[in-house]
Amino acid sequence: MKKQSAGLLLLSFLLAAMLCCPLAQAEQGKDGAILIVAFGTSIEKAKVSYANVEKQVKAQYPDREVRWAWTAHSLLKAREGQRPMLSVQEALAALATEGVKSVDILSLHVIPGQEYHNLVQTARAFEGLPKGLERVGVSPPLLHDTESVKTVAGLLLQTLPKTRKAGEAVIFVGHGTHHAAGVYYPALQYYFSKQDKNALVGTVEGDLELDGILEILKAGSVKKVWLAPLMMVAGDHAGNDLFGAEGDSWKSRLEAKGINVESLAKGLGEYPPLVEQWVKGLSPKSQ
Ligand code: CO
Repeated sequence: MKKQSAGLLLLSFLLAAMLCCPLAQAEQGKDGAILIVAFGTSIEKAKVSYANVEKQVKAQYPDREVRWAWTAHSLLKAREGQRPMLSVQEALAALATEGVKSVDILSLHVIPGQEYHNLVQTARAFEGLPKGLERVGVSPPLLHDTESVKTVAGLLLQTLPKTRKAGEAVIFVGHGTHHAAGVYYPALQYYFSKQDKNALVGTVEGDLELDGILEILKAGSVKKVWLAPLMMVAGDHAGNDLFGAEGDSWKSRLEAKGINVESLAKGLGEYPPLVEQWVKGLSPKSQ
């Protein structure tokens, strides 16, 4: 008799296991995953911005699986870092294979430029494939409409040290683009101007390059400038194009004009209110 009940017990365990596992998988698929997508950086200390985002996402969505994907071809080729680096395609394919049905992508882009559009296209391509992901949401970039530009202008100005004196300019320098979304930079400039006449927006590429900014500084007889990246991480562009020791960096060229430069060499991901602003765009529909 004892042997029989032990057998029954084993059978019921097996049945329970068979029943529960597909259910557990379905549960996981229902909750979905969050995929954080960034360009990536090879600069070790710049990665603090990414760590801040992951911390914020995990705090806000403790029950969701959180993964990363990267868009920089050079980094994916080299596959640097301790964790294996996946492209967006690889990360989405892996989630689909694991039975996940719903993914929310957190885009860490600043403007909806070419890279952001590529990301949206990839997401659409993966959505609704047979036996694949049922939905792939993509959060908006930091600047994406009037309200976000207005809000971000205020948040950026709040990051400035109180030691900045009247008459000292600040330049937030973005990556820049030749894509139509480059209009977000002058849009940000507009909302800066409403709050702080000496706050300027520049870009490494595109229309707001240093030459034009030097003219503005000259016209205002500005003697001191606070220089800050308008980039998610203070990576290669910040280290070289903005603050590099070479003569063609923004810092060197400003100093060559007799302007004193204070470096604010932090990525936007090092300021909690800006990290929050990015993560706010993530509003998983499957919750
Ligand atoms: Co670049």
